[in-house]
Amino acid sequence: MKSNKTVSIRKQLIGWLMIPITSLCLVSAVVTYFIAVRMTTQGYDAALMESARELANRATLQDGNIVLDLPPAALAVFKDDNIDKFYYAAFGENCRLIAGDADVLQALNPAAASQPRFRNGRLHRSPIRIACYNAAVSGAPNRHVRIFVAETVRKRQALTNQILIAVIVPQLLLIGLASLSVWLGVARGLAPLQAVRSAIASRSQFDLSPMAELNPPLEIRPLVNAINDLLGRLNRDIEAQRRFVANAAHQLRTPLAGLKTQTELGLRQENFSELRGILNQIQRGAANLTRLVNQLLSLAQLEPSGAQSSLVRTRIDLNAIVKEATRDMVPYALSNDIDLGFEESQKPAFVIANAWSIRELVTNLIDNAVRYTQSGGKVTVRIESADPVTLVVEDNGPGIPESERERVFERFYRVLGNNVNGSGLGLAIVKEIVLSHQGRVSIESGIGGKGTLLLVTFPPAEMSFKPPADKSINVATSPLSAPASRVN
Ligand SMILES: Nc1ncnc2c1ncn2[C@@H]1O[C@H](COP(=O)(O)OP(=O)(O)O)[C@@H](O)[C@H]1O
Ligand SMILES: [Mg+2]
Repeated sequence: MKSNKTVSIRKQLIGWLMIPITSLCLVSAVVTYFIAVRMTTQGYDAALMESARELANRATLQDGNIVLDLPPAALAVFKDDNIDKFYYAAFGENCRLIAGDADVLQALNPAAASQPRFRNGRLHRSPIRIACYNAAVSGAPNRHVRIFVAETVRKRQALTNQILIAVIVPQLLLIGLASLSVWLGVARGLAPLQAVRSAIASRSQFDLSPMAELNPPLEIRPLVNAINDLLGRLNRDIEAQRRFVANAAHQLRTPLAGLKTQTELGLRQENFSELRGILNQIQRGAANLTRLVNQLLSLAQLEPSGAQSSLVRTRIDLNAIVKEATRDMVPYALSNDIDLGFEESQKPAFVIANAWSIRELVTNLIDNAVRYTQSGGKVTVRIESADPVTLVVEDNGPGIPESERERVFERFYRVLGNNVNGSGLGLAIVKEIVLSHQGRVSIESGIGGKGTLLLVTFPPAEMSFKPPADKSINVATSPLSAPASRVN
């Protein structure tokens, strides 16, 4: 499911940057703290052990008893400084207390065979560090003393705290500075987007020229280029629409003016048979206008943005649909004294197509062939089922000069030099339909270089294609039509 929550680039960037930076600072602070604690501990422990060793050196043998030679002046060297308190206890064999504060070391078990060199303890609710040192009595190598010294840990804590602060404060500053520079950097970085936004907002809807005044940074350039590209396409499309409307209006104006003149003439006419003649002309004019309007509607419907996208395509046999369309044109051909024939293919010619479009295409091609071929001429509509499937409309009329064969597909383009009525839209419609079916259309000369051959090819229908459930289009070849038979 698509979330419609508005995303903030700034928040995302700060998140992406701050999460790793903060985690990194946190890890680094923890690691630094432990290293600092270890290093301070090691230093102070060494000093503590040194005190124990010096006390042990003062153990001597007097009358067979071990004593600690510790005059007050010497003890002052070990005793408390201003910050930490110092404690000691010396034991001889059998855990006999020789000197020191036995009670303050009550937490210890001096009799235990093995003692850790250092340990932590608590005294008077203050944490202490304890060191233990075993040594031989000087001058009596087989007599032993065990010295315990302890001190409170205020100095150690103060030093680790100082180190910690020294590490954390710059890191907090770094995090703060990084957030600030991301905040400001994003504002600065997004400023060109603001410029694009105001450039678009302040534009008139009639100004479709590219946004040239902006000089966007590299990252925003593709967006501006895409907008400019869209503006260009819109401009061309609107220009084409404008030309089309102007042409269409022009095309409608001429026959309408004719109709108006003839109506005025008719109104003044008293003679009934003359009036009838005029009415006939009005009828022909109206028929031409109807055809023109229908062609305009067809073109509008075939526009990519028009109803064309909703024109359903199915797998159809071209034979059936073209034959039907040809049959509908027979009366028109007969009225122009043209022999209109249909030749279907040996095998079904399946294509994926929209039936309405195909009928429109065939009607326009036959209309042209009949319209431009002299009376007594012949028009043949043929389907070839080979790959690609081909529709041919052939006539033995005047033909289209090679130089005009591209241009006749343009809207409103007509070849001058004949007296035939027309709008120049027929082949434009044909081309739209062919393109929308991914087909091709070309004009060739008929047999012996005479007449016109209009060739339309379609990509063959995929074998895997399954027609939809409602078979609105009759895909079977009509049994009425034998191959190469003429319809009229
Ligand atoms: N079968 C044909 N034989 C000769 N000329 C043709 C034929 N089909 C089309 N043309 C030429 O191509 C031009 C464009 O045709 P089309 O787009 O149908 O417009 P229209 O028929 O309204 O003039 C016509 O004016 C005509 O000169
Ligand atoms: Mg035409």
